[in-house]
Amino acid sequence: MKKYFVIGNPIKHSLSPKLHNFWIKKKNINATYDKILATQDDLPKICDQIREKKINGLNITVPFKNDIIRNLDELSLEAKETQSVNTIYFKDNKIIGHNTDIIGFKFSIEKVQYDVSKKKILILGAGGVVPSLIYSLNKMGASKIIVCNRTKSKAENLKHLFNGIEIVNWGEIPNFDMIINATSLGLKNGDVIDLDFSKVGNGKFFYDVIYNPAETNFLKIGKKFGNKTENGKMMFIYQASASFELWHGINVNIDDETINQIN
Ligand code: ATR
Repeated sequence: MKKYFVIGNPIKHSLSPKLHNFWIKKKNINATYDKILATQDDLPKICDQIREKKINGLNITVPFKNDIIRNLDELSLEAKETQSVNTIYFKDNKIIGHNTDIIGFKFSIEKVQYDVSKKKILILGAGGVVPSLIYSLNKMGASKIIVCNRTKSKAENLKHLFNGIEIVNWGEIPNFDMIINATSLGLKNGDVIDLDFSKVGNGKFFYDVIYNPAETNFLKIGKKFGNKTENGKMMFIYQASASFELWHGINVNIDDETINQIN
């Protein structure tokens, strides 16, 4: 039986096992998918288990998407350019790191038929998922990407990976077509982002990477002012399906039954 895991810290609330085990069952695959609460020190040991074929694949989540890289033999182009790995597999005696958050984000945008090309995008936050968003937005032809993070130095660091981005101070809201909440603000009920969106107007696109709760205060505000909104649920599902396809070589259909697994 093949064994797959998602590792992170915290990990209790991860819905990856639910989704992967749903597909494993549906496709009659002889495998299990579980979660591991890991610490930094566990990462080399866990990767050794891949080499020993005791583990067949891993998903990596917060806060290890970058830290895991030093334990790997090879990176896909996407993982290399974002310095972010969320999926690991073993091939030709090598542990390979890949990033399916990029395609997960792209497919979620395409699903709502939003055309990113030539658009000005404002990203709030500079944490683990942001390099994947920037890479994906660049590929989709965004004309400008502006990053706004409470700790400005963390946003400035992103320039080492993406020199075309612009950084603004926390509190500034420059003009944009699409705004993405990539902060962790909104995960807890009652979380409010301390930014003034009242002058943003309507006809923009508010996207929140958070999908639980389904409608954060950020999305509520966007909606209130007449903007299009979308949460991160489909991004999550698409990144999972891309990992699944990579490991098992089987395509999965993202139908309502699948989407309803994440409610
Ligand atoms: P990490 O920063 O460890 O990668 P993350 O969950 O990926 O963790 O990112 C958290 C993001 O939410 C960061 O951009 C963080 O801003 P800082 O870099 O200033 O910490 C942002 N964030 C968390 N709490 C916030 C708050 N109260 N106000 C504004 N931004 C906040």
